[in-house]
Amino acid sequence: MGVFTQEINGVVITFFSTASAVGKTLISTNMASELARQGKKVCLVDFDLQFGDVSNYLQLLPQRTAYDLQQAMNLQGNAVRAEEFLTPYEYHNVVFYVLAAPAKLEEAYNIDADKAMDMVRQLQKVFDYVLVDTTSTFSKLNLALLDLSTIVSFLGIVDFIPTIKNMKIGSETLKKMNYDKNKIRLILNRSNAKTRISIEDVENLLGEPFYHILPNDFQAASRSIKDGVPLVLRSGGSELGEALRDLVARYTNRVYDDTVDEHVPESWLARIFG
Ligand SMILES: Nc1ncnc2c1ncn2[C@@H]1O[C@H](COP(=O)(O)OP(=O)(O)OP(=O)(O)O)[C@@H](O)[C@H]1O
Ligand SMILES: [Mg+2]
Repeated sequence: MGVFTQEINGVVITFFSTASAVGKTLISTNMASELARQGKKVCLVDFDLQFGDVSNYLQLLPQRTAYDLQQAMNLQGNAVRAEEFLTPYEYHNVVFYVLAAPAKLEEAYNIDADKAMDMVRQLQKVFDYVLVDTTSTFSKLNLALLDLSTIVSFLGIVDFIPTIKNMKIGSETLKKMNYDKNKIRLILNRSNAKTRISIEDVENLLGEPFYHILPNDFQAASRSIKDGVPLVLRSGGSELGEALRDLVARYTNRVYDDTVDEHVPESWLARIFG
């Protein structure tokens, strides 16, 4: 991988929630795709170590995983080349890299949180963006990740009272951590799914408005997983795909252009980090 020459200090975006099945993997795979489409160097890390779905959603068959990287780090320390343990995802001229979750449960269990953080730090040196998909627990690994992250995408859905209660616990816990206010981005997914609970009531309960709201589109979401092609890479598009692109545009403060094949001019972020 000759492209990785200079040391950079990539932006780390963690996708976190306090309930499962709220869209962490769908959104992180789409954000990785959209950033890559814009010409950024992107690595998506699957730290849903035991039950990771990134490789399934992208139909990848990884030869090496986070477990292999940990083994190599144990032998070589920080001299390890983390990029050699990644699996490329390619669609037309869009490419990004995935650090896959371990293949076996016992390997996942044996990943050490400190080593996992070293992996992210290593990847930060060679990627503009390191996106990390997680699980919905305040585990040692996730707490360390939240600390290390530049941005935390805290995702929620409004379906049942227990989910909302857990979102409240999550958002209060994140507030207690006293991070910079801009670090935590509260994102509502599947907003127009059938529910009796209003978004406004949830915002009042959480004490803040949602940073971004994504629509419910079960068909588009399931089709993209079935095909292994994230929504933002499909021309023709869907409302959900557009909303995901808008989310990335807000993160990067730039207006996206609409094609996969056209040459995309470098953004200020690429100029700074490139
Ligand atoms: N905006 C949406 N509209 C409709 N369906 C969606 C939307 N976002 C996600 N889904 C669907 O919800 C399910 C869960 O999504 P996903 O796997 O991304 O959640 P997760 O938070 O990663 O779950 P887990 O905690 O199990 O890792 C998937 O079947 C996905 O297709
Ligand atoms: Mg997931």
